[in-house]
Amino acid sequence: MHGQLERAQRANDDLRQTRNDRWYPAFHLAPAAGWMNDPNGVCYYQGRYHVFYQHHPYGPTWGPMHWGHLSSADLLTWRHEPIALAPGDEVDADGVWSGSAVVSDDDTLMVYYTGHRWRNGVDQTEGNLQVQCLAESTDGIHLDKKGVIVEGPADLLHFRDPKVWQQDGIWYMVFAASSADERGQIWLYTSTDMRTWEFDRILFEDPDPDVYMIECPDLFRLGDRWVISYGPMSKGTPKGYGGRNGHNTGYVVGEWKPGEAFTQLTDYRPADWGHHFYAPQTFAAPDGRRIMFGWMGGFTLPLASQAEDGWSGQLAVPREVSVGEDGRLRFTPLPELEQLRSETVDFGSFEVGVDETRVLLADAGPVEIELVVNLADSTSEQVCLDVHKTSPAHFTRVAYDDLASRVVLDRGTNSATDRGYRAAPYDGGDQLVLRVFVDRGSVEVFVGDGAETISSLSFPPDGPRAIELSSVSGSIRVESLKIHRLGSIWGQE
Ligand code: FRU
Repeated sequence: MHGQLERAQRANDDLRQTRNDRWYPAFHLAPAAGWMNDPNGVCYYQGRYHVFYQHHPYGPTWGPMHWGHLSSADLLTWRHEPIALAPGDEVDADGVWSGSAVVSDDDTLMVYYTGHRWRNGVDQTEGNLQVQCLAESTDGIHLDKKGVIVEGPADLLHFRDPKVWQQDGIWYMVFAASSADERGQIWLYTSTDMRTWEFDRILFEDPDPDVYMIECPDLFRLGDRWVISYGPMSKGTPKGYGGRNGHNTGYVVGEWKPGEAFTQLTDYRPADWGHHFYAPQTFAAPDGRRIMFGWMGGFTLPLASQAEDGWSGQLAVPREVSVGEDGRLRFTPLPELEQLRSETVDFGSFEVGVDETRVLLADAGPVEIELVVNLADSTSEQVCLDVHKTSPAHFTRVAYDDLASRVVLDRGTNSATDRGYRAAPYDGGDQLVLRVFVDRGSVEVFVGDGAETISSLSFPPDGPRAIELSSVSGSIRVESLKIHRLGSIWGQE
């Protein structure tokens, strides 16, 4: 098995030498080279935070899955670690798929993942053969595979993505299954020794009969509520603002107690309204924060960075998750990110006249923008914040649309490949508060208290990247505007 890991690492290193960095993130987690999808095994172990991830090291496209690995002492500065798991054993012949990691009472890192095989040995047309597996580590770097801990029922085509946690001395595992009648379900198992697992119940079935599978389920407690986040895969064509992506992620909030059924209290709601936010995974940090990492990437469209740049996929900035009185989640960028601010340009308060455009920065690298607008004193149809603007025709627009009452992220003609816009509902009242993170290849918007977020990849053409603010058929009263230049998360390697 060691030979395999080393070969994969060499493939990764070769790719890395040819990596083009025009869109490579300064402050988002990404593979050193090759392909990344879901965050896996996010945890805190022996003084470091670990984020493993679905990784194909031989090229910037999805392929036989490995687990890549990133680690950090402070959730701010990160380093690439050696590849942690490679496929090729009998039960994971075609891939080491998603899973999670927890620390045992005797300080071993217990890693749960899906061993994946294609039923026909080639592709997914006849479904998958999937089992839940265990690997153990005593240093957080080297993982020893220990084999299967939950066999897959012979007739189920999807059976994957274990997420484990401990509560009152019992270990719990949820994972996703597509039932015999093709309903998307979450199955719950329990264990006292972390190695032998017993079926408890089917904890959740998506009420939408078109949903045949629920990817990457996560069940976690916030106060007296329980949240299930998941990626519903539907036979239908989801419509509207929340359903445009090939893969969409959302959540429901409810109540749950060990030994009981889950009671759903809210409808499904998107976890993010952008083009690229999928397969998120949370963990409880030692200080009690519930922190979520989500994948910014896509299976369905070619991404610009795949074509020539040697890498693909990144993780959205880590978000602290909480639940509001209204039953909606709030997503807040970790305050650690503020330490990346190297210089702040403070524009103070000012008015943008009717149909006026202000160039805020003529050439901006990675930045965070904090904008507060008094909507009661503004008449503009839109508040347009254009970023990644390399020419009059090429920019990504973050806008508050007063007619539609939505916050919009419109990639217009910017993206070298997939374009399109996305929009989140706005009910934030007269004070519009936006935090916008602009990295080399992405834009993430946090609206107000974080009830809505919009995360999308954005691949600007070459050239200086301006930031502009403009009004449309009316004026804008800016209460405050700051742009923070951000440093890099990539520390010594
Ligand atoms: C979600 C997913 C998971 C699976 C993994 C394979 O993006 O399809 O369900 O375990 O990716 O890479």
